[in-house]
Amino acid sequence: MAEFALPKNSVVRKDGKSFPAQPGATRVRQFKIYRYDPDTGENPRYDTFEVDLDSCGPMVLDALIKIKSEQDSSLTFRRSCREGICGSCSMNIDGRNTLACTHAIEDCRKEVQITPLPHMDVIKDLVPDFSRFYAQYASIQPWLKTVTPPPSGKERLQTPEDRAKLDGLYECILCACCSTSCPSYWWNSDKFLGPAILLQAYRWLADSRDENTGERLDELEDPFRLYRCHTIMNCANVCPKGLSPAKAIAEIKKMEVERII
Ligand code: SF4
Ligand code: SF4
Ligand code: FES
Repeated sequence: MAEFALPKNSVVRKDGKSFPAQPGATRVRQFKIYRYDPDTGENPRYDTFEVDLDSCGPMVLDALIKIKSEQDSSLTFRRSCREGICGSCSMNIDGRNTLACTHAIEDCRKEVQITPLPHMDVIKDLVPDFSRFYAQYASIQPWLKTVTPPPSGKERLQTPEDRAKLDGLYECILCACCSTSCPSYWWNSDKFLGPAILLQAYRWLADSRDENTGERLDELEDPFRLYRCHTIMNCANVCPKGLSPAKAIAEIKKMEVERII
């Protein structure tokens, strides 16, 4: 299992707090959780919460919601769908980027360690700053671009074979687990687009209805934006949806080569 580095603001204090389980708890599990409060400006710390699994749902997100409801309402994290669809609850659990809502507590270590996604600035506790990630997503113009008019009164159709080329791409939920596990993205996230955004870029390059292929490839043809990927494969190992950004990146590189030969 790959272990990833801590968030950027991560010189951790030693004086974390402990929150015991309710009296009478019988099946107690410890959760060691990264805490950072921008209002105090103090360095981050780890707090330890004891949770009674007999009164908790099965997933790590269930434990976080229980902790926030019963032990410390200031604990801050993102979540929405609770079923692996929205990508909001991505975080690092026991050293691996994943979704808290689909990660079972029984698959965690005895003391579950939870930090924000690595190498991102942290806004508060488990909430990283996605501003750059979203700006990079916008930069690839993630929508259908055409020059010819649509068939009058009709949709632009695809053959089943062309539609199948989007499988393994459209399922991406932009959780950033892959990008924040990529060493090239850690060190060059100001210039390298990273695996998630490149997978999304390929999603439009692979779409038979899109008529902007040349311009899209021109935009990506850059020593940093695309070619900082060194095929380390961390991205494919962590994707909670089972996708392979590395494969999508290889397909873009192939398209770049094929258009000049
Ligand atoms: S294959 Fe490329 S994008 Fe994926 S982790 Fe490695 S360097 Fe990053
Ligand atoms: S490719 Fe997978 S890990 Fe990366 S953003 Fe999409 S769903 Fe998340
Ligand atoms: S809450 Fe939506 S993916 Fe976890």
